[in-house]
Amino acid sequence: MPLLGVNIDHVATIRQQRREFDPDPVKAALICQEAGADSIVAHLREDRRHINDKDIVSLKKALQIRFNMEMSIAPDVVQLACKIVPDQVTLVPERRQELTTEGGLDVVGGFKKLKPVCTRLRDKGIAVSLFVDAQKAQVDAAKSLGVSIIELHTGSYAEAKTRKALFFQLKTLTHIAQYAHSLGIEVNAGHGLKYHNTSAVAAIPAMNELNIGHSIISYAVFVGLKRAVTEMRAISRLKSSTRTG
Ligand code: PXP
Repeated sequence: MPLLGVNIDHVATIRQQRREFDPDPVKAALICQEAGADSIVAHLREDRRHINDKDIVSLKKALQIRFNMEMSIAPDVVQLACKIVPDQVTLVPERRQELTTEGGLDVVGGFKKLKPVCTRLRDKGIAVSLFVDAQKAQVDAAKSLGVSIIELHTGSYAEAKTRKALFFQLKTLTHIAQYAHSLGIEVNAGHGLKYHNTSAVAAIPAMNELNIGHSIISYAVFVGLKRAVTEMRAISRLKSSTRTG
Protein backbone atom coordinates (compact mmCIF):
# COMPACT_ATOMS: atom_id res chain seq x y z
CA MET A 1 0.00 0.00 0.00
CA PRO A 2 1.52 3.33 -0.98
CA LEU A 3 2.01 6.17 1.46
CA LEU A 4 -0.02 9.38 1.17
CA GLY A 5 1.52 12.81 0.88
CA VAL A 6 -0.99 15.65 1.17
CA ASN A 7 -0.36 18.84 -0.77
CA ILE A 8 -1.72 21.81 1.18
CA ASP A 9 -1.07 24.56 -1.42
CA HIS A 10 -4.74 25.27 -1.98
CA VAL A 11 -5.38 26.10 1.64
CA ALA A 12 -2.91 28.93 1.07
CA THR A 13 -4.65 29.76 -2.24
CA ILE A 14 -7.84 30.57 -0.29
CA ARG A 15 -5.88 32.59 2.27
CA GLN A 16 -4.22 34.64 -0.46
CA GLN A 17 -7.61 35.70 -1.83
CA ARG A 18 -7.79 38.04 1.17
CA ARG A 19 -4.10 38.29 2.11
CA GLU A 20 -5.15 37.56 5.71
CA PHE A 21 -4.18 34.76 8.09
CA ASP A 22 -6.97 32.26 7.46
CA PRO A 23 -7.03 29.52 6.49
CA ASP A 24 -3.54 28.78 7.78
CA PRO A 25 -1.80 26.07 5.71
CA VAL A 26 0.32 25.06 8.71
CA LYS A 27 -2.82 24.38 10.75
CA ALA A 28 -4.14 22.37 7.78
CA ALA A 29 -0.88 20.40 7.65
CA LEU A 30 -1.20 19.51 11.33
CA ILE A 31 -4.76 18.25 10.75
CA CYS A 32 -3.48 16.12 7.83
CA GLN A 33 -0.74 14.79 10.09
CA GLU A 34 -3.30 13.90 12.77
CA ALA A 35 -5.47 12.21 10.12
CA GLY A 36 -2.65 9.87 9.14
CA ALA A 37 -0.92 11.59 6.21
CA ASP A 38 2.60 10.24 5.75
CA SER A 39 4.03 13.49 4.47
CA ILE A 40 3.08 17.08 3.70
CA VAL A 41 3.84 18.65 0.34
CA ALA A 42 3.99 22.41 -0.19
CA HIS A 43 5.05 24.09 -3.42
CA LEU A 44 6.95 27.34 -2.97
CA ARG A 45 6.31 28.85 -6.37
CA GLU A 46 8.58 31.53 -7.78
CA ASP A 47 5.68 34.03 -7.75
CA ARG A 48 4.65 32.98 -4.19
CA ARG A 49 1.04 32.80 -5.34
CA HIS A 50 -0.02 30.54 -2.49
CA ILE A 51 2.64 29.13 -0.14
CA ASN A 52 5.16 31.75 1.06
CA ASP A 53 8.59 31.65 2.67
CA LYS A 54 7.15 32.01 6.18
CA ASP A 55 4.89 28.99 5.62
CA ILE A 56 7.91 26.91 4.62
CA VAL A 57 9.79 27.90 7.77
CA SER A 58 6.74 27.19 9.96
CA LEU A 59 6.00 23.83 8.29
CA LYS A 60 9.54 22.67 8.88
CA LYS A 61 9.26 23.60 12.58
CA ALA A 62 5.74 22.24 13.16
CA LEU A 63 5.70 18.90 11.35
CA GLN A 64 6.59 15.56 12.84
CA ILE A 65 5.95 13.72 9.58
CA ARG A 66 8.09 14.15 6.45
CA PHE A 67 8.07 17.59 4.84
CA ASN A 68 8.38 17.47 1.06
CA MET A 69 9.08 20.90 -0.42
CA GLU A 70 8.11 21.14 -4.06
CA MET A 71 10.02 23.75 -6.04
CA SER A 72 11.78 24.83 -9.20
CA ILE A 73 15.52 25.38 -9.42
CA ALA A 74 15.20 29.18 -9.13
CA PRO A 75 18.27 30.34 -7.14
CA ASP A 76 16.36 32.08 -4.32
CA VAL A 77 14.14 29.03 -3.78
CA VAL A 78 17.11 26.64 -3.75
CA GLN A 79 18.80 29.00 -1.29
CA LEU A 80 15.80 28.86 1.04
CA ALA A 81 15.59 25.05 0.82
CA CYS A 82 19.28 24.80 1.76
CA LYS A 83 18.62 27.05 4.77
CA ILE A 84 15.42 25.34 5.95
CA VAL A 85 16.50 21.75 5.09
CA PRO A 86 13.15 20.01 4.49
CA ASP A 87 13.25 16.19 4.60
CA GLN A 88 12.71 16.05 0.86
CA VAL A 89 12.66 18.36 -2.14
CA THR A 90 10.70 17.57 -5.29
CA LEU A 91 12.01 19.48 -8.27
CA VAL A 92 9.35 20.50 -10.79
CA PRO A 93 9.30 22.66 -13.92
CA GLU A 94 7.61 25.99 -13.44
CA ARG A 95 6.06 28.52 -15.76
CA ARG A 96 4.59 31.76 -14.42
CA GLN A 97 1.47 31.64 -16.61
CA GLU A 98 0.44 28.08 -15.73
CA LEU A 99 -2.47 27.40 -13.36
CA THR A 100 -0.70 24.33 -12.00
CA THR A 101 2.43 22.30 -12.83
CA GLU A 102 2.14 21.26 -16.46
CA GLY A 103 4.27 18.30 -17.50
CA GLY A 104 7.28 16.76 -15.84
CA LEU A 105 10.83 18.04 -15.67
CA ASP A 106 12.92 17.58 -18.78
CA VAL A 107 15.77 15.84 -16.98
CA VAL A 108 17.41 14.90 -20.28
CA GLY A 109 17.51 18.46 -21.65
CA GLY A 110 18.11 20.11 -18.27
CA PHE A 111 20.75 17.66 -17.04
CA LYS A 112 23.57 20.25 -16.80
CA LYS A 113 21.46 22.74 -14.84
CA LEU A 114 19.98 20.09 -12.57
CA LYS A 115 23.24 18.41 -11.62
CA PRO A 116 24.74 21.14 -9.38
CA VAL A 117 21.35 21.82 -7.76
CA CYS A 118 20.83 18.12 -6.92
CA THR A 119 24.36 17.91 -5.53
CA ARG A 120 23.91 21.05 -3.43
CA LEU A 121 20.61 19.81 -1.96
CA ARG A 122 21.97 16.32 -1.30
CA ASP A 123 25.05 17.77 0.40
CA LYS A 124 22.65 19.42 2.84
CA GLY A 125 21.17 16.01 3.64
CA ILE A 126 17.95 16.65 1.70
CA ALA A 127 16.42 13.72 -0.23
CA VAL A 128 15.90 14.83 -3.84
CA SER A 129 12.99 13.72 -6.00
CA LEU A 130 12.38 14.65 -9.63
CA PHE A 131 8.85 15.08 -11.00
CA VAL A 132 8.97 13.41 -14.43
CA ASP A 133 6.69 12.19 -17.17
CA ALA A 134 6.47 8.40 -17.44
CA GLN A 135 9.26 8.06 -20.02
CA LYS A 136 12.24 5.71 -19.91
CA ALA A 137 14.68 8.40 -21.08
CA GLN A 138 13.70 10.64 -18.16
CA VAL A 139 14.16 7.81 -15.68
CA ASP A 140 17.56 6.98 -17.16
CA ALA A 141 18.62 10.62 -16.88
CA ALA A 142 17.41 10.73 -13.25
CA LYS A 143 19.48 7.62 -12.55
CA SER A 144 22.55 9.23 -14.17
CA LEU A 145 22.02 12.26 -11.94
CA GLY A 146 22.27 9.94 -8.94
CA VAL A 147 18.73 10.78 -7.84
CA SER A 148 17.09 8.12 -5.69
CA ILE A 149 13.44 9.25 -5.92
CA ILE A 150 11.16 10.17 -8.81
CA GLU A 151 7.55 11.26 -8.88
CA LEU A 152 5.66 10.14 -11.96
CA HIS A 153 3.33 12.76 -13.43
CA THR A 154 -0.17 11.27 -13.49
CA GLY A 155 -1.74 14.19 -15.38
CA SER A 156 -2.12 12.31 -18.68
CA TYR A 157 -3.74 9.40 -16.84
CA ALA A 158 -6.10 11.73 -14.94
CA GLU A 159 -7.09 13.55 -18.13
CA ALA A 160 -7.59 10.45 -20.30
CA LYS A 161 -10.94 10.80 -22.07
CA THR A 162 -11.58 7.21 -23.14
CA ARG A 163 -11.24 3.83 -21.43
CA LYS A 164 -8.64 2.87 -24.03
CA ALA A 165 -6.56 5.98 -23.31
CA LEU A 166 -6.93 5.45 -19.57
CA PHE A 167 -5.77 1.86 -19.86
CA PHE A 168 -2.81 2.92 -22.01
CA GLN A 169 -1.73 5.60 -19.50
CA LEU A 170 -2.06 3.19 -16.59
CA LYS A 171 -0.03 0.57 -18.43
CA THR A 172 2.67 3.15 -19.17
CA LEU A 173 2.79 4.30 -15.53
CA THR A 174 3.00 0.69 -14.34
CA HIS A 175 5.75 -0.19 -16.81
CA ILE A 176 7.88 2.90 -16.06
CA ALA A 177 7.34 2.54 -12.31
CA GLN A 178 8.59 -1.05 -12.52
CA TYR A 179 11.55 0.02 -14.65
CA ALA A 180 12.59 2.77 -12.21
CA HIS A 181 12.11 0.43 -9.27
CA SER A 182 14.41 -2.12 -10.95
CA LEU A 183 17.10 0.60 -11.09
CA GLY A 184 16.77 1.10 -7.34
CA ILE A 185 14.78 4.34 -7.63
CA GLU A 186 11.90 5.00 -5.21
CA VAL A 187 8.74 5.71 -7.21
CA ASN A 188 6.05 8.20 -6.21
CA ALA A 189 3.23 9.63 -8.31
CA GLY A 190 0.86 12.55 -8.34
CA HIS A 191 -1.12 15.23 -10.10
CA GLY A 192 -4.82 15.17 -10.88
CA LEU A 193 -5.52 12.16 -8.66
CA LYS A 194 -9.11 12.21 -7.45
CA TYR A 195 -11.39 9.99 -5.37
CA HIS A 196 -12.51 8.02 -8.43
CA ASN A 197 -9.14 7.45 -10.14
CA THR A 198 -6.61 6.96 -7.34
CA SER A 199 -7.06 3.28 -6.49
CA ALA A 200 -5.74 2.04 -9.85
CA VAL A 201 -2.53 4.06 -9.44
CA ALA A 202 -2.24 2.96 -5.80
CA ALA A 203 -2.37 -0.65 -7.02
CA ILE A 204 0.78 -0.28 -9.15
CA PRO A 205 3.17 -2.71 -7.41
CA ALA A 206 6.23 -0.42 -7.37
CA MET A 207 4.33 2.59 -6.04
CA ASN A 208 5.81 4.06 -2.85
CA GLU A 209 3.81 7.25 -2.27
CA LEU A 210 0.99 9.25 -3.85
CA ASN A 211 1.00 13.04 -3.56
CA ILE A 212 -2.49 14.48 -3.71
CA GLY A 213 -3.74 18.02 -3.14
CA HIS A 214 -6.58 19.64 -5.02
CA SER A 215 -9.12 16.84 -4.71
CA ILE A 216 -8.58 16.47 -0.96
CA ILE A 217 -8.87 20.19 -0.24
CA SER A 218 -11.92 20.44 -2.56
CA TYR A 219 -13.66 17.54 -0.81
CA ALA A 220 -12.80 18.99 2.60
CA VAL A 221 -14.92 22.04 1.72
CA PHE A 222 -18.00 19.85 1.32
CA VAL A 223 -17.26 17.60 4.26
CA GLY A 224 -16.98 20.67 6.48
CA LEU A 225 -19.51 23.10 4.97
CA LYS A 226 -22.61 21.90 6.84
CA ARG A 227 -20.94 22.28 10.23
CA ALA A 228 -19.48 25.66 9.30
CA VAL A 229 -22.91 27.04 8.34
CA THR A 230 -24.62 25.49 11.37
CA GLU A 231 -22.11 27.12 13.72
CA MET A 232 -22.38 30.54 12.05
CA ARG A 233 -26.19 30.26 12.07
CA ALA A 234 -26.07 29.62 15.82
CA ILE A 235 -23.85 32.67 16.33
CA SER A 236 -26.06 34.86 14.18
CA ARG A 237 -29.08 33.91 16.31
CA LEU A 238 -27.38 34.67 19.61
CA LYS A 239 -28.48 37.83 21.35
CA SER A 240 -25.26 39.79 21.64
CA SER A 241 -24.67 41.76 24.84
CA THR A 242 -22.94 44.43 22.78
CA ARG A 243 -25.89 44.86 20.43
CA THR A 244 -27.25 48.40 20.31
CA GLY A 245 -30.83 49.54 19.83
N1 PXP B 1 2.79 16.38 -7.31
C1 PXP B 1 3.32 17.45 -7.94
C2 PXP B 1 4.75 17.40 -8.34
C3 PXP B 1 2.54 18.58 -8.23
O1 PXP B 1 3.07 19.63 -8.88
C4 PXP B 1 1.20 18.62 -7.78
C5 PXP B 1 0.39 19.85 -8.00
O2 PXP B 1 0.84 20.86 -7.17
C6 PXP B 1 0.70 17.49 -7.10
C7 PXP B 1 1.51 16.39 -6.90
C8 PXP B 1 -0.69 17.46 -6.58
O3 PXP B 1 -1.58 17.56 -7.65
P1 PXP B 1 -3.11 17.75 -7.37
O4 PXP B 1 -3.28 19.05 -6.64
O5 PXP B 1 -3.72 17.75 -8.73
O6 PXP B 1 -3.54 16.59 -6.52
